[in-house]
Amino acid sequence: MSERRDRPRRAVDAQATIEDAQAEHSLRPRCFEEYVGQHKVTDNLKVFVEAARQRGEALDHVLFCGPPGLGKTTLAYVIARELGVEVVTTSGPAVERKGDLAGILTNLKDRDVLFIDEIHRLPAIVEENLYPAMEDFTFDYVVGEGPAARNLQLRLPRFTLVGATTRTALLSSPLRDRFGVTCRLEFYPPEELGQILERSARILGVALEPEAAVEIARRSRGTPRVANRLLRRLRDFAQVLGDGRVGLELARQALDRLEVDGLGLDRMDHRILRAIIEKFDGGPVGLETIAASLSEDGETVEDVYEPFLLQEGLLQRTPRGRVATPRAYAHLGLKPSGRQGGLL
Ligand SMILES: Nc1ncnc2c1ncn2[C@@H]1O[C@H](COP(=O)(O)OP(=O)(O)OP(=O)(O)O)[C@@H](O)[C@H]1O
Ligand SMILES: [Mg+2]
Repeated sequence: MSERRDRPRRAVDAQATIEDAQAEHSLRPRCFEEYVGQHKVTDNLKVFVEAARQRGEALDHVLFCGPPGLGKTTLAYVIARELGVEVVTTSGPAVERKGDLAGILTNLKDRDVLFIDEIHRLPAIVEENLYPAMEDFTFDYVVGEGPAARNLQLRLPRFTLVGATTRTALLSSPLRDRFGVTCRLEFYPPEELGQILERSARILGVALEPEAAVEIARRSRGTPRVANRLLRRLRDFAQVLGDGRVGLELARQALDRLEVDGLGLDRMDHRILRAIIEKFDGGPVGLETIAASLSEDGETVEDVYEPFLLQEGLLQRTPRGRVATPRAYAHLGLKPSGRQGGLL
C-alpha cells in the first residue's frame, strides 16, 4: 500500500506545510467537548455515537464532506475516541489494489473505525469491493486460477467506515448511498473561529489579546486550519518584532505583511479574481481556463480557493463558467467594463 507515484497528493490547503501537520496534531480537538461549532453535525453525531455505544454495536458508516481544513479528519478521530475504539487511517489514492483493501479490512477489530480520507479518489476496483464490506461485512475473493478457481467469502468484523471528501460530486452514487450518515461541514463564523484561536493560543502558550483574536478570526476564511496557521505566524512576529504579545495593532500589521486582506483573501484569491476580471472580462470563463492562465492546477483552484469565494459572493458559478460578481469588482477596487456593466 503506497501513495501513487504518478499522481502527487492533492494540495489539501492553500499553503499547507509540514509544520501545519505537526501543529495540527497538538491542536486537534480529541472529543466532542473540545470540538468547536458545527453543531448541526455534532448534535446528531453525539446521539448516534451514544446509541451505538449503549447497544455495543458498530456505528453506522459516516461520510464527511466539505472544503479543506474544516475538521473532517478531526471528527473521524473524535468519533473513534468517543466510541472507545481504535482508528485505522488510509486515503483513497493509497489503496491501489483489491489486495490492499483486503489487508486493511481483515486487520480491523470489531467496532473499529476505518477512516478513508479523499475517498472520492479510491480506484473503481477497490470501491466495488468496498460495497459488500460496508453492507454485509463480507469480502469476496478468488483462489486458484482457470478452471480450478473458486470464489470464497471472508467474514469481516463489524466496523465503521468514516469517509472524508472535499468533492461530494465526484463520489459515485452507489458509494454515497451506502453511508448511513452524511454530514456536510460549513465554514465557521468568526465567533467560533475566535473560540478556536483562544483554545489554540492556550495550548501554544501565546498571549493573544481578545481584539486580536477577533481580527484573526475575521480574516481566516472561515477555516480553523487557516486560523491556527495565522496564529503561529503572528506569534513569530510578536516574538521577533514585538514584546511577545499578539495585540490588535501587531495582528493588523502582520496580517497585511502576510498579504491576507480584510476579508481573509490571500494572494492566490486575488490572482484568481483578477484573472477573471482582467483577462476574461469578468467571465463567464471555464475553471480550467482560469487555472491554466495562472499555471495552477484546476483541482486545487476548485477544492481550495473557490468554495470560499463562492460563499463570500465574490464568484458565481453559471452553466457557462465562472463569473466575477459586482462585490468582487468593489472589493478589488475595479470598475466593471462596459459589457459587464450592462450585465450586472
Ligand atoms: N471544530 C474545531 N474546533 C477546533 N479546532 C478545529 C476544529 N476543526 C478543525 N480544527 C483545527 O483545524 C485543523 C484542521 O482540521 P482537519 O485536519 O480535521 O481538517 P480536514 O477537514 O480534515 O481538512 P482536509 O480536507 O485538508 O483533510 C485541526 O488540526 C484542528 O487543529
Ligand atoms: Mg483531513
